[in-house]
Amino acid sequence: MRPLVATVDLAALRHNYQLAKQCAPGRKAFAVVKANAYGHGAPAAVECLRGLADGFAVASLEEAEQVRSVDASAKLLLLEGCFEPNEYAAAAALGLDVAIEGEAQLDALLAADIARPLNLWLKLDSGMHRLGFSADALRRAHARLQGAHQVAELNLMSHFACADERGNPLNEAQLEQFSGLLDLAFDSRSFANSAAVLTLSAAHMDWLRPGIMLYGASPFAELSAETLGLKPVMALTASIIAIRDVEAGESVGYGAGWVAQRASRIATVSCGYADGYPRTAPPGTCVSILGQRAPLAGRVSMDMLAVDITDLPPAALGDAVELWGNEIPIDELAQACGTIGYELLTKVTQRVPRRYING
Ligand SMILES: Cc1ncc(COP(=O)(O)O)c(C=O)c1O
Repeated sequence: MRPLVATVDLAALRHNYQLAKQCAPGRKAFAVVKANAYGHGAPAAVECLRGLADGFAVASLEEAEQVRSVDASAKLLLLEGCFEPNEYAAAAALGLDVAIEGEAQLDALLAADIARPLNLWLKLDSGMHRLGFSADALRRAHARLQGAHQVAELNLMSHFACADERGNPLNEAQLEQFSGLLDLAFDSRSFANSAAVLTLSAAHMDWLRPGIMLYGASPFAELSAETLGLKPVMALTASIIAIRDVEAGESVGYGAGWVAQRASRIATVSCGYADGYPRTAPPGTCVSILGQRAPLAGRVSMDMLAVDITDLPPAALGDAVELWGNEIPIDELAQACGTIGYELLTKVTQRVPRRYING
């Protein structure tokens, strides 16, 4: 078997969910498990948080069906609402909470013949300008929904554009937009993604929507997950599958871009970009072997990468190599590659088996 595995620490996932809740005592929290629980495997994540999480949130009916097959009764929010009119009946059958983000969704809902009323989340475009009603349009939508037979709860939600940038004036502006609607009657309100859960208490409202923090990565460029008290959930671990010595002046890998400055020992490692390790990893990016850091040597290839282990004499064939996890924070790798932990986690490909521990 190819030695590459994404080990998912379910105890860390529970810890991080509880930490989100502790940030906002008395509030409830949807665990955001869209995109296959940010690459960790939605069925296992939902099973792990079942009974602990107040609810779950996903991006599509297909994702909702997957969650429902694990948890038949949890509150379950469709963050972008229904994409087609015929999805309302399915959403009702699954007992979903559904976002309504614009006139087209509202019209489709009010025309829908559904077996039971839905909990709706009117989505305010408070400044992200991606989805949602303007404040005035939301007031009109609220009025149209009063007394409609399709409606059970009527709730308010919005989403931050810059919550990961503390002090960004848009955060206050978005909060003001949201607060300006609170004279309307809503059953519940929801605004906070992970960054707002962690640093914007005015946005906590009734329901939090933490995503990335559950998986132990930081939404902030300048605040590490460890500083925030988060535990990494996924460790991506490969092995040394070959070792060779190269002379000074010899090159390693595609493009022959890495040239040994001294006689060097090179380990070939069983992970590449087809597994989700970023090909953009710059020179100097480190992996961890025997608890010590060792830098990449040359370009990441599809199934393998090379590491300079000259300064790590005990490293041997078969040794475990952590690409990210407890030793190499995913956010550190992401920043070096000009991306974010979200992208690395969601891009771990299907051929990498997930192994669950501490369930
Ligand atoms: C509407 C909505 N709410 C909450 C989240 C969770 O955000 P984060 O992962 O930054 O906590 C997302 C994720 O993109 C989202 O789209």
